[in-house]
Amino acid sequence: MDDMSVAPTSAARPPTAASRGATGPRDLRDWMTRIEAIGQLKRITAQVTRDEEMGAITYMAHQTIDAPALLFENIKGSPRGFRALWNPLGSSVDRFALAIGEPTGLGAMELIERCKTKFQYPIPPVIVEGEGAAVNENHLRDDKVDIRVFPAARHWPRDGGEYIGTCDAIITRDPDGGWLNVGTYRQMVQGKSEVGLYLSPGKDARLHIERYWSRDEPCEVVCCWGIDPALFIAASQTFPKTTSEFDFVGGMLGRPVELVKGEATSLLYPANAEIVVEGVIAPDSQKLEGPFGEFTGYYGRPEDLAFLVQVKAVHHRDNPILTHALMADYPANECALLYAVARSARVWNDLDRVGVPGIKGVYAHPAAAGGFGMTIVALEQRYAGHAPQALALAAQTPGGAYYSKWIVAVDEDVDPSNINQVLWAMATRCNPVEDIDILRQTWSTWLDPTQNPPEERPYGSKALINACMEHRHIKQFSKRTKLRRSMYESVAARWSELGLEGAPPRLWALED
Ligand SMILES: Cc1cc2nc3c(=O)[nH]c(=O)nc-3n(C[C@H](O)[C@H](O)[C@H](O)COP(=O)(O)O)c2cc1C
Repeated sequence: MDDMSVAPTSAARPPTAASRGATGPRDLRDWMTRIEAIGQLKRITAQVTRDEEMGAITYMAHQTIDAPALLFENIKGSPRGFRALWNPLGSSVDRFALAIGEPTGLGAMELIERCKTKFQYPIPPVIVEGEGAAVNENHLRDDKVDIRVFPAARHWPRDGGEYIGTCDAIITRDPDGGWLNVGTYRQMVQGKSEVGLYLSPGKDARLHIERYWSRDEPCEVVCCWGIDPALFIAASQTFPKTTSEFDFVGGMLGRPVELVKGEATSLLYPANAEIVVEGVIAPDSQKLEGPFGEFTGYYGRPEDLAFLVQVKAVHHRDNPILTHALMADYPANECALLYAVARSARVWNDLDRVGVPGIKGVYAHPAAAGGFGMTIVALEQRYAGHAPQALALAAQTPGGAYYSKWIVAVDEDVDPSNINQVLWAMATRCNPVEDIDILRQTWSTWLDPTQNPPEERPYGSKALINACMEHRHIKQFSKRTKLRRSMYESVAARWSELGLEGAPPRLWALED
C-alpha cells in the first residue's frame, strides 16, 4: 500500500478519533447489508424492464418519506445476476448516517453537524494493488467493450435515451494542479463503447475538459457507475476547486479510499467500486444528448450537445450493481436528502471558515428542487448587519452558490430544518419591503425552467430573505410566546404518565 496524495493543496490536519467517529462501510455491499438489517432495502425479484418501468416503480414507491432503497434483481435485457439499485439514500436520514459510519436515530440537524465535522478532517486516498481488487474481477477490453450489458434505463417517458450514470462518480485530472476531481454528472448511453457526459457550466470536469481542449489534448476520464454512498455524497458536493473529493470520502469513512492504477488511462479508480469504465474525450468530441427528467422535476433543457466519452476498458465485480438516482419532485428525488445534509454541512463550514460568528444551523430544504433551491441559516444576531452578511455569504459561498434561489435567515430560536417554524418566521419577522434583497446574474444552470427562452440560461438570481427580528429594534420586538424551560422539562418528564405517545418534542425556543 503506497501513501499518496492526489490533492497537493488539501493537506489534512491529522484526524482525531473523535472527529472521525466510527468507520463507515467497506463498500456498497457492506452498506446494503447494514441498511437491510434496519428494513431499509427492498429487493424486487419480479422481472422489470429498463424502459421507464424501474423509474416508475421508484417514483411511486418513494412518495413516502423513508421509503426503502430498491434493488432490482431481475432486469429484462441484462445478464442474469446484473442488478440495479435505485435511490440508495432516498429520503432516509438513517441510510445517510450509516453511509458515513454514524448511528441511526439521529435528527437531521445532528447528522448535519457530524457530517460538517467529518468534512473538516479529509484523509487522502492510498494506492493498492490492482490484482485482487474487487472491481477487477471482470474486464472488457478493445472490441469486447459493450456498456449496454449494464441495466441502464430510461427514467422518464421523454428522456432522450437510456441513462447509465446518474448515481455515479466521474474522475478527471486537473491538467495543471494534478489532483483528481470527482463529480456526479449524468451519462446517457450513446453506443456500445460511447457514452455522453452532461456538465453544467462551471463544474470542475467541464473546466478540466475545456483546458485540455484549449491545448488540443484529449481529456482522460474514469466513470464509476456502481458506487458506495459516501463516494456519491462527496462527488455531488462543490468542494474547493484545488482539492480532491477522495480526501473528503476518506474523512467521512474514517479511513483512506483505496484506489488502483488505471490500465487504459493514467487515472486511478476505486478498488471496491461495482462498475468502472476508463475512457477519453477527444478534442471537440460532442454528441446530441438529453433531454433528461432532472432534479427540478422538469426535463431540464432540450436535446443539445454534450461531451462524448470513448470507452477504452470496462472493469466490474461479479454480479455488478448499477446505482441509479431518480431525479424528481421530493421525496422521490435522490439528491434531496443528500443535499439537505451534505450541502448544509458544506455551507456551514464555509461560513465558519470566513469567520461569520453565531451560526446555529444551516439547512438546504430537500423539497426545494432536490435541496438546491433554498438555504436556511439560523443565527444568533450579534451586531447590526449580521443577518444580511450571513445571507449574502451563504448565497455565494462555493458550497451553496449553484442554483439556490431562496436564502433565508432566521433567529437562533428557529429550527432551520422545521419548515413550519421557518414559514412562521417569514410571516412574522420579515417585512418584505425592507427585508428582501436580490442578487442578479448568479451561478445557475441550463436546467432552470424559470428562465425562458432556454437560450437565456444559465444566469440566475437569488432572493435574500431576512426573516430575523429587526435588529434595530430587537429589544422592543414583540415577545414570542415560549414555554418556560422548567415547565417544558417537567411536562417532558411526565410525558408517558400523561398517556402521550412517543418521545416529547424537542423545542428550539424556551424561556430561561
Ligand atoms: C444525482 C445527481 C446527479 C447530478 N447530475 C449532474 C449533471 O448531470 N451535470 C452536472 O453538471 N451536475 C450534476 N449534478 C451536480 C453535481 O454533482 C454537483 O454540482 C457537484 O458539485 C459537481 O462536482 P464538481 O463541483 O467537482 O464539479 C448532479 C448531482 C446529483 C446528486
